Amino acid sequence: MPYEYLLTSEHGEGPLKTGLIQLNRPKQMNALNDQVMDELGAALLAFDEDENIGCIVLTGTGKAFAAGADIAAMKDYDFMHACKTNFISRNWETMRQVRKPVIAAVAGYALGGGSEVAMMADFIIAAETAKFGQPEITVGIVPGAGGTQRLPRAVGKAKAMDMVLTGRMMDAAEAERAGLVSRVVAADQLLPEALAAADTICGLGMPSVMLAKECVNRAFESPLSDGLAYERRMFHALFGTEDQREGMDAFLTKRTPQFKHR
Ligand code: CAA
Repeated sequence: MPYEYLLTSEHGEGPLKTGLIQLNRPKQMNALNDQVMDELGAALLAFDEDENIGCIVLTGTGKAFAAGADIAAMKDYDFMHACKTNFISRNWETMRQVRKPVIAAVAGYALGGGSEVAMMADFIIAAETAKFGQPEITVGIVPGAGGTQRLPRAVGKAKAMDMVLTGRMMDAAEAERAGLVSRVVAADQLLPEALAAADTICGLGMPSVMLAKECVNRAFESPLSDGLAYERRMFHALFGTEDQREGMDAFLTKRTPQFKHR
């Protein structure tokens, strides 16, 4: 499906491929307007539904992953318009419906809504050029797509408050130290590294990959006892899959597993 503000492609040599989504509105630093978010949601859901795709990588272009919600588009909004159109909720949370892993590969600016979209992904791989920030306070608002909720869960209250209250940016090294990103690589290695991580995931059994994602996400949405009970149920359920038998037999017979549910 053709998009105006996205480029999509498929990568990988194995039976399951990686779906790559590239935000492509470089003149506006990939500012996220309604159309970009509609297209992003559609592309995410299309890859999620595609049986040949095992993992999704989301990246930016040029100087930015994304510099936030489109300020020019929203500058004249009033409270009634924001409420009536369900601004942000309507098309910003689609990534939460995606069952396959989503990796954000961030180079350059990931600010405001851009940082929030990166944090909606399952993990973030950053280039050394990456800069994260929640500068909404500097334009008279607060983060509206999870910045005040996901950032403290990722980096703790002190750094989250510092960033949300001052609007300062965090570079890639600080983001890795703080736990916001899982790895930092040279800028020219960003896409190869993200696609290699995705390819590793594509080679695993899909039932365990999807349940692993669900279990980790539970950790952020339930008390420990509920999360542990949920994890135990998923752990038990996977003993009902062919992939469990194949994975363990392959380990014991010293061969590469051939997972069935790809
Ligand atoms: N919305 C709309 N346009 C944007 C934009 C945004 N968020 N960010 C950048 N642009 C546009 C600029 O207006 C500029 O357009 P023109 O060439 O037509 O003037 C173009 O992109 C290039 O930007 P700059 O000239 O500013 O480039 P720079 O290299 O000097 O600075 C930057 C880059 C630091 C990212 C700077 O553009 C910037 O601070 N952008 C805004 C960041 C921001 O405040 N984001 C939060 C938005 S609110 C939000 O996201 C709400 C939410 O929680 C969902």
